[in-house]
Amino acid sequence: MADRHLTAPQIRARKGGDRLVSVTCYDATFARLVDAAGVDVVLVGDSLGMVVQGHDSTLPVTLEDVIYHTRAVSRGLARAHLVADLPFLTYQIDDREALRNAGRLVVEGRAQSVKLEGGVRSATAIRRIVEAGIPVMGHIGLTPQSIHQFGGFKVQGRAEAAAEALMVDARAVQEAGAYAIVLESVPGKLARRITEELQIPTIGIGASAACDGQVLVLYDLLGMDPDFNPKFLKKYDDLATRIRDAVSNYGREVRDGTFPDDAHSFHCD
Ligand code: KIV
Repeated sequence: MADRHLTAPQIRARKGGDRLVSVTCYDATFARLVDAAGVDVVLVGDSLGMVVQGHDSTLPVTLEDVIYHTRAVSRGLARAHLVADLPFLTYQIDDREALRNAGRLVVEGRAQSVKLEGGVRSATAIRRIVEAGIPVMGHIGLTPQSIHQFGGFKVQGRAEAAAEALMVDARAVQEAGAYAIVLESVPGKLARRITEELQIPTIGIGASAACDGQVLVLYDLLGMDPDFNPKFLKKYDDLATRIRDAVSNYGREVRDGTFPDDAHSFHCD
């Protein structure tokens, strides 16, 4: 798999060059489509807890869930780099456990790298995983596994002290050996400062065009949820309406007997 796919060193080398395009993905069918669309980095995010499983946060997602979805996505990719999220409490307890769980995402899930949340507080776990040969993507700013600490999904780093703390976090992630870092929901000015200072690519979500790349949750950019409209999100389609229309047209034709018609039925020789 690694031969045909973009590697972590290749993604790191894109710093300051062609912008990185990343989306989340959770199954093989969508994986084939996003890979064919030229996406560079496919993330099996723990956002699957919200958009696939219907939870109101990412906290209930298990390592088994991410392994299952990562293996499915791996079957659909030909070129994109595959990164999988370490869920809540799979890397915070101790660094040995973090390494063991990262290893499971790579061996059982067939991920090429792993992502975990946190700056200074996660630096020793990042180092331990990287030293074992597994590339790590960092994630700072609005880290959804800490929503209860933040008091909700809120922009981070607005005040000067909070911005300075995020600068320290960004440096810690880089120094620990991460090959890239997600900046989520931070002001554009801070994203620019972090991007200019770090030697690894920054991948933004709600962090302005100053970053070296962008990531969006696939279901969000496709417009699957009409009620989810945060400021940072641009919807590139309205699949909620299109899927509802397609399925209701199917239902109408089943009810009135026009489906299946002759063209969709089998005939004797
Ligand atoms: O879980 C996820 O989908 C993520 C992205 C939003 C970066 O972490």
